[in-house]
Amino acid sequence: MSKFKIDDTSGRTGLSRRGFLKGALAGAGALSVGSYEAVAQMVGGSSVRGWGVPPGLVRIDANENALGPSPRAVEAVLSLVTSINRYGQNPDLLGKLARRHGVPVVEWTDSPFAPVQDAWIAVGAGSSDLLFAIGHAFIREGQEVVESLPGFGFLTRLANMQNANSVRVPLLEGMKPDLDGLSKAVTDRTAVVVVTTPGNPTGQLTPLSQLKPFVASIPERVLVLIDEAYIEFAEKAEDREGAASLIADHPNVIVTRTFSKVFGMAGMRVGYAVANPAVIDRMNSHRGNTLTLLSTHAASAALDDETHMTRSRDLAIRGKRYFYEQLDEMGIEYAPSESSFVMMNMKTDVDELVRRLREDHNVRVGNAKARWNIDGWIRVTAGLPEENEAFIAALKKVMVSS
Ligand SMILES: Cc1ncc(COP(=O)(O)O)c(C=O)c1O
Repeated sequence: MSKFKIDDTSGRTGLSRRGFLKGALAGAGALSVGSYEAVAQMVGGSSVRGWGVPPGLVRIDANENALGPSPRAVEAVLSLVTSINRYGQNPDLLGKLARRHGVPVVEWTDSPFAPVQDAWIAVGAGSSDLLFAIGHAFIREGQEVVESLPGFGFLTRLANMQNANSVRVPLLEGMKPDLDGLSKAVTDRTAVVVVTTPGNPTGQLTPLSQLKPFVASIPERVLVLIDEAYIEFAEKAEDREGAASLIADHPNVIVTRTFSKVFGMAGMRVGYAVANPAVIDRMNSHRGNTLTLLSTHAASAALDDETHMTRSRDLAIRGKRYFYEQLDEMGIEYAPSESSFVMMNMKTDVDELVRRLREDHNVRVGNAKARWNIDGWIRVTAGLPEENEAFIAALKKVMVSS
C-alpha cells in the first residue's frame, strides 16, 4: 500500500477521495464562483463527514460543524496545495475582517515578513492561539483573571499556569452569566475579565445592551476579553453583530472569533481578534508566525460565502428545534441555546449514559459532569438531521433500559 494513501472514510458521493483530489486539482485553475455547486458536490453533496468520522459514528461532542467547510474555502485550498513550498499569506484577509467589524482598515501584504503597523485585527492559528497570547501578554504573577464558570475557562487555566489567581464567578439561574458579579469581582489586582457569548457550555448569549454598561463598569486598566466563538449562530442578526463596536470607546476591550464553528474549518486553525492597535501589538509580541498560506486563503474565501454561513446557522437552528421538541416530549429539562449546542439535564449518572451512547450506539456526546462538574448534564452539538435523529433514538433506548 502506498505510504501516501489518503484515508477515504469521508466520501459520501461514491467518488474516491483520491479521484476527487486528482480531478479537482486538474481543474483548480478553472474553478470559480460558478463552480460552487460543483465543488460542493465533489466534497460530499449537502455535507461532508470530515476527518476522523468513519461511517456510522455520530460525533456530536465537540461543537464541530457537520455541514463541512465552504466549497469556496475548499477550492482555495486545492488551488494552492502545490504552492506550499513558499512562505505566504492571503493579502486580503486582514482588510476583509476589518471591514466586517467596522474598524480602521489596515491591509496585509502577501508576505508574512512585512509586519503591519497599527492593525485593529490579528489573525491566529485558531482563536485559542490568540487567547494563549493574550494570557501571556496581559497576565502577570500574582494578578487575577475573573471569569464566569462553568465556562470555557481558557484564561482561567492560563492564569493558574502563570501563578496568577483565578476568580470564579458562578452562573445565575438558567446558566446566565452574572455580569454584576463579574464587575464586583474586579479588584486592583485584576488583569483580565472574560465574557464568552454565547457561553460554552451554557449557550447563553449576552446581548450588546447588557455588555455596554458592563464594559463601562470595568476600569480601563483591566482587559475585557469578549469571546464570540459561537456568535454567528445567534438567531437575530443584531445579536450576531457582536461587541466590536465597543472598542472605539473602550480601548481595553478585545473581541475574539473563530473560523472553527460557523465556517466549519476547525481543522484549518484560523481565528482572529479585534482590538485597539495598542492591545493587538502587545498580544502579537507574544506570538510567532503561526499562520499558513492555505489557512489564510481558506479563511478569506470563506468570508465571501454568506450562503454557507446561513446554511450552517440554519442547520444548527433546525437541529436545536428538533432537540427541544423531542426533549419536551420526553420530559427532559434543557437550556435553550443561541449557539450550536444544547445543555440537557439527564438527572442520571451521565458517565454511564455517555458510555452507553458511545459503546452501544456509536453516538458521542459531551459529558458536562466530567468536563465542567455539572452533575447530570450532557452537552450535545446539533449535527446533521440524521445524526440528531440517531442521537434521540439512542437516548430513548438507553433510558428505557436503564
Ligand atoms: C468558547 C470558545 N472559545 C474559543 C474556542 C477555540 O476555538 P479555536 O481555537 O478552534 O478557534 C472554543 C473551541 O471550542 C470555544 O468553545
